[in-house]
Amino acid sequence: MSAQSPAGSPGEPRVKRLMAPDITAKKGVEPIVSLTSYHAHTAAIADRYCDFLLVGDSLGMVMHGYETTVPVPLELMIMHGRAVTRGAKRALVVIDMPFGTYEESPSVAFRNAARVMKETDCGAVKLEGGRRMSETIRYLVDRGIPVMAHIGLTPQSINVIGGFKAQGREAAQWAAIEEDARQVAEAGAFSVVLEAMAEPLAARITEAIPIPTIGIGASAACDGQILVMEDMLGLSQRVPKFVKEFGAIGAAIERAISGYADEVRARTFPATEHTYAMKATSAAPVAAPATRVTKKPKTPNT
Ligand code: KIV
Repeated sequence: MSAQSPAGSPGEPRVKRLMAPDITAKKGVEPIVSLTSYHAHTAAIADRYCDFLLVGDSLGMVMHGYETTVPVPLELMIMHGRAVTRGAKRALVVIDMPFGTYEESPSVAFRNAARVMKETDCGAVKLEGGRRMSETIRYLVDRGIPVMAHIGLTPQSINVIGGFKAQGREAAQWAAIEEDARQVAEAGAFSVVLEAMAEPLAARITEAIPIPTIGIGASAACDGQILVMEDMLGLSQRVPKFVKEFGAIGAAIERAISGYADEVRARTFPATEHTYAMKATSAAPVAAPATRVTKKPKTPNT
């Protein structure tokens, strides 16, 4: 069941959903395309173009107005995860493990990741961290949970890093980051996100490890790319330097809403075509003509 889309309407062909090994197999074959997705409707559109969709914990900032991803609860990831697995039929759906749900021990990570998989029908989870998470990655993979790793800038560690800072821009940092990449691959991660990382380092890691690297603010040499969908659509107020806006959806929404507000105020919406006439067989009840309720003008105090 999890390898296929949920049953659609009768007669609708069932679509084979990509699985974690399908993503790994794309390394060296073709670029991997991915986006974040938080809702069923955007998932249904992105599904036609993407190999995997990530229900990223960035949804806390993008959708729910948090300043960082640190406060995001597991329940929120599960709720949005369910919407995306319902909307997407073909793409692998990967769900982020939020801060505090996996770092404590491999068994805590397993309990929470298993809950995410059972309650959402997603095909993999993502967690942040390199070497320090390799034991947990191995533990989850050995027990049937595909894991995408995430190194470079790891936003859940913002309070330790001291800001959303690009990583590996000093040669002295390279060895540690390369070691992170090697160890998550050895532990069994099926791919690894490289976030906000010096370009030559991302290219070098991509060459060095056997699993696909998914770049975000990293390098065109990565095996795949991901962006936060709202950022690339032009819907976010502020975006990081590495985002290219492929759309201007924020401006389109603004135009639509201001047009609606103007027409409501001018009473030109709804027009006749948006209203229901009485049935021809039914006469309108005889009643006093409707009167508009208007506010009484204020009487002067004097
Ligand atoms: O939460 C997220 O959206 C992510 C991407 C930036 C990779 O982790």
